[in-house]
Amino acid sequence: MDYDIKDMTLADEGRLRIEWAALSMPVLHKIKERFSKEKPLQGLRLSACLHVTTETAALVTTLKAGGAEVVLCASNPLSTQDDVAAALVADHEIPVYAVKGEDHKTYYSHILSALKHKPHLTMDDGADLVSSTHFIALERWDDLEPSVAEWGKALPPEERKTFLSNVMGGTEETTTGVIRLRSMERDGVLQFPVISVNDADTKHLFDNRYGTGQSTIDGIIRATNRLLAGSTFVVSGYGWCGRGVAARAKGHGAHVIVCEVDPLRALEAVMDGYRVMPIAEAAPLGDFFCTLTGDINVIRVEHFLQMKDGAMIANSGHFDVELDIPGLKEHSVSQRKIREYVEEYTLTNGKRIYLLGEGRLINLAAAEGHPSSVMDMSFANQALSAEYMAKNHAQMDNKVYPVPEEIDRQIAKLKLDSLGVKIDTLTDEQRKYLASWHMGT
Ligand code: NAI
Repeated sequence: MDYDIKDMTLADEGRLRIEWAALSMPVLHKIKERFSKEKPLQGLRLSACLHVTTETAALVTTLKAGGAEVVLCASNPLSTQDDVAAALVADHEIPVYAVKGEDHKTYYSHILSALKHKPHLTMDDGADLVSSTHFIALERWDDLEPSVAEWGKALPPEERKTFLSNVMGGTEETTTGVIRLRSMERDGVLQFPVISVNDADTKHLFDNRYGTGQSTIDGIIRATNRLLAGSTFVVSGYGWCGRGVAARAKGHGAHVIVCEVDPLRALEAVMDGYRVMPIAEAAPLGDFFCTLTGDINVIRVEHFLQMKDGAMIANSGHFDVELDIPGLKEHSVSQRKIREYVEEYTLTNGKRIYLLGEGRLINLAAAEGHPSSVMDMSFANQALSAEYMAKNHAQMDNKVYPVPEEIDRQIAKLKLDSLGVKIDTLTDEQRKYLASWHMGT
């Protein structure tokens, strides 16, 4: 079996951690039991490009139980849990291509290995797999990492097309990936249907908000071991993720400042009790800064120069482009690693800025990502969307589709059941009343 992981001897550790995560993933477990019997993905090759974590292990083993031939590569160079990668290879015979800390070239060589699997279904977190497939098929060599471009160029042109026409469809996990896919759809280049798992209520309302909220704070604390109580914590972006991080930072006793560009979101932050101001005004006030926007160069050199000596900067948005790290390097006179996941930059004005987790998703770089109980719902959406795509792809256009509402509701119901929470049901009278316009005061 072909694979590329750090160290097979880590498998024992990974096995136990996978078991621990699975204990909090009852919804996915139910789906796995059904998949084992019904085999809805029988005979399909599936390439997944996801953060290689204990929860992802629960997902890929569910897909395999459903009959899929699965391969897994990393969706971020710093988010791989090497022990999980080892256990997936050793115990489940799932080819994994992921090494924590891999460089840019290796990251793309791993994506290439997942593409060579010639998937019928793709599963992405950030759309690197889908975009790479399209760049090859559409011969957009300049957009590709050079070694991947070389491989694509070496293929006979007809094979490049067959390679893409193999794909029935894909699923996408995160906001940034969905933004990229919608842009591909708008440009008329998307060549197969994709389901936006992120848009399911049982995904973003919980994963982005509570998952990112807790794990981002966890990552910042693990990296720095600093006290949040009494500090000033600046959150850039008050979307689903930003709301979660702001709430948890406040819960730790931090004074939270929110920076936004959207007037509605900014207003919501004001009414949620936060101070709201532009980043230029927040820069000299913050002790901690965390970006969660999905945008580029949100905190730039002019802001770094205004920060306090000792300010900590982190990002929990998908790509490492939210903090202007090249600018930070350019305006620094020295740089050193002061502890794991903390890089000290001394600026030209003498102040020290601490960059956490290389500016990559701090919750995955310095902590363990989202708690499994929340990934239970996200990955239930992934598994059921893959099944839906396998059944329905022939009737679907080359568009980005939402997760079907019945899947979303079914997951919410299963999660409530697993928590032992019961809810009310509408009476016949109530159902009629809610569906009619006849009754007034
Ligand atoms: P969202 O679209 O709900 O929120 C993003 C917010 O950022 C919006 O309100 C937008 O107006 C704001 N924004 C954009 N540019 C800005 C700027 N220059 N300054 C201030 N605010 C700005 O997106 P969501 O779901 O909160 O995701 C945010 C990012 O986090 C995405 O890249 C997503 O892929 C990523 N993500 C990360 C996770 C993690 O584990 N760390 C988990 C889920 C999502």
